[in-house]
Amino acid sequence: MNHNKTVLVAPSLLAADFSQLGKQICLVEQAGADLLHLDVMDGIFVPNLSFGIPVIKSIRQKTDLFFDTHLMISNPMEYIEAFKAAGANSLTIHIEACPKPQSLFIKMRQLGLKVGLAINPQTPVDELFPFLEDIDVALVMSVEPGFGGQVFQPSALPKITKLRSEIEIRQLPVHIQVDGGINLSNSSSCVKAGATQIVAGSAIFGQPNPNQIINKMRK
Ligand code: DX5
Ligand code: ZN
Repeated sequence: MNHNKTVLVAPSLLAADFSQLGKQICLVEQAGADLLHLDVMDGIFVPNLSFGIPVIKSIRQKTDLFFDTHLMISNPMEYIEAFKAAGANSLTIHIEACPKPQSLFIKMRQLGLKVGLAINPQTPVDELFPFLEDIDVALVMSVEPGFGGQVFQPSALPKITKLRSEIEIRQLPVHIQVDGGINLSNSSSCVKAGATQIVAGSAIFGQPNPNQIINKMRK
């Protein structure tokens, strides 16, 4: 399905040089990033650790970019307030970690956070359907969460198509975000399928022309 909605690009900070976080963020901000994607991992929900609340608090001083916070953690409820206080603008939680996410959504709304819900590659897209009225962003993972630099799984595309048509039928303002292994050769198929937010780590950070890459991904 084709749609003519604006596409936003969210560089994933996981692929940045962590010894230069402030500078790296400035670089993607100047290159035209629409959001900054922050991958938080707890070593339990995913077999890796990344960064968390103190890092988000520090980088909040360096930029006004929207902090799109992807929580790959098993008990997000405990940390919602702390992420808000650190400067997160949205929190995306995983349905595999929170099969009954409504109470988390209520808490996020009370705090003025945007609400996201993510599914892993193995999770059927229909599992998002009961929650589409409650969320701002539906995140379709195109790799197993936990690591940057993996290969895009094309099985995400029919999930995006199905989700887009459900969102259109219900006329909801929900963004579809796709995350994992996205580069210039597969971003347009994600957009054609109906994605409106493209997350990309290794395809943007450390590349000589992040500006060009972000602009091409947006088209
Ligand atoms: C994977 C993360 C992704 C990852 C994307 O667990 O959720 O956001 O950083 O990185 P690339 O674009 O390198 O796959
Ligand atoms: Zn992510």
